[in-house]
Amino acid sequence: MAAVKTVATTPFAGQKPGTSGLRKKVAVFAQPHYLENFVQSVFDSIGDVTGKTLVVGGDGRYHNRTAIQTILKMAAANGFARVMVGQGGILSTPAASCVIRKYRTFGGIILSASHNPGGPAEDFGIKYNIPAGGPAPEAITEAIYARSQAITLYRIIEADNVDLDRLGTAQLGDMAVEVFDPVADYAALMESLFDFDAIRAAFKAGLRMKFDAMHAVTGPYALEILERRLGAAPGTVMHGVPLEDFGGGHPDPNLVHAHDLVAALTGAGAPDFGAASDGDGDRNMILGRDFYVTPSDSLAVLAANATLCPGYAKGLKGIARSMPTSAAPDRVAAKLGIPAWETPTGWKFFGTLLDAGLATLCGEESFGTGSDHVREKDGLWAVLMWLNVLAKRGQSVAAIVTAHWAEYGRNVYSRHDYEGIDTKAADQLMAHLRGLDLKGKSLGGYTVAFNDDFAYTDPVDGSVSTKQGIRVVFEDDSRIVFRLSGTGTEGATLRVYIERYEPDPAKHVLDPQVALADLIRIARDLAEIEARTGRTEPTVIT
Ligand code: G1P
Ligand code: ZN
Repeated sequence: MAAVKTVATTPFAGQKPGTSGLRKKVAVFAQPHYLENFVQSVFDSIGDVTGKTLVVGGDGRYHNRTAIQTILKMAAANGFARVMVGQGGILSTPAASCVIRKYRTFGGIILSASHNPGGPAEDFGIKYNIPAGGPAPEAITEAIYARSQAITLYRIIEADNVDLDRLGTAQLGDMAVEVFDPVADYAALMESLFDFDAIRAAFKAGLRMKFDAMHAVTGPYALEILERRLGAAPGTVMHGVPLEDFGGGHPDPNLVHAHDLVAALTGAGAPDFGAASDGDGDRNMILGRDFYVTPSDSLAVLAANATLCPGYAKGLKGIARSMPTSAAPDRVAAKLGIPAWETPTGWKFFGTLLDAGLATLCGEESFGTGSDHVREKDGLWAVLMWLNVLAKRGQSVAAIVTAHWAEYGRNVYSRHDYEGIDTKAADQLMAHLRGLDLKGKSLGGYTVAFNDDFAYTDPVDGSVSTKQGIRVVFEDDSRIVFRLSGTGTEGATLRVYIERYEPDPAKHVLDPQVALADLIRIARDLAEIEARTGRTEPTVIT
């Protein structure tokens, strides 16, 4: 029996989980006691852990293995009976959710900073997911934060490191550490939801695709599922080996960062279908040949075609989207006669709706799509659902999306990010917007129906979340939304979301930046972006 050490410590300021866990630079996490304080705060905030099982894994980024060894030793010292760790410390975020649910564990700890770059000078992150498989709700993250600000000691055992590469069970003090295959359970779940025979037949008949794993966690998952089980051509998976620094790239599946994939999908000889996922495997970007599908449209199209997939053949209970996501999915919900839910940004708000059976599909404009199969967004799931739809409909991505717009109208949409701006200027900009009374005013030809700071009351548990983003909604349902990112680690990021509904199919071909030009100008003027931040243009447009 290994000796349990009780180590005296003092709080670190700022151990407050953001939109998706605690994210800081590696150097911050690597300081003595920093990770330990946070992990002890988690263990102290989730109830009695004695005799329980915990899942642990991460996206493979720099510091992943070091952090896992610390967490294992602390879990043993705190009384857990068993920890299940993905082999090599690898576990995608949706796979973690899948395993937590399947084996009914006492939740899990996921090590990831998602789409943020990795490496010694880059980002690291940690979050706790509850036994239902989803991110901890605010009541728990607040308790963890409060604990971290009052912490005086943590518990850890003195023991050798566990071999994370060898499958099987090892002993760590009184605790069992089970190193398991991080792909198997997840792949089995995917096989239960989608028509693998139809997809296999489509690949055999010549469907060509590229999947960009961006040197992040989905490489092993995509290789196994797409190439081995579904028979996609060898080489379908690009950048399939997880690297601690993601090959120096930014593992964010958007048009800017997944440039290799975008290039591969451009031009006459390009494949039919392209997709990418992010650092921890929960995001997705969907492309056709010379065609980009916005995440909001992707959710709407998948919802409209869901019954083509065996796992959703009985229909959907409802569709949930985050507030800044376009209203395209709402139009599908209306047609299907099912509820459409509008939640604050962050996947944690979907959990109660999914648990209560009020929604089946959910999504965010930030390249997140998912369903009630797990309690996280799921990149490869979205890719497989698209493949299932493509295989069943036998049409191109562009044909499917343009037909969707013709039927429902198009919610023309774009997001403009201003990254790394001064925090104080960002706060003042938001305060300025919050103070505006615009109802009835005409801005550049658009009349304001109302403006507010979005607040949400969870329809299941009644919890209230305020200050979730400034909305300026016009009489024709066009919208501008402003909010500050809750996931960054340096300065502030202002996100501006712009949307306009276009019923006329003749105008659906327009570039959104052109179709939205007036609203983009209104947004910049209203927020006084240039005067307040010194920025004339956004850093990233999606
Ligand atoms: C961003 C996205 C949000 C997503 C989160 C975690 O959060 O906007 O939709 O849930 O990452 O992936 P933000 O930085 O905007 O707070
Ligand atoms: Zn992610």
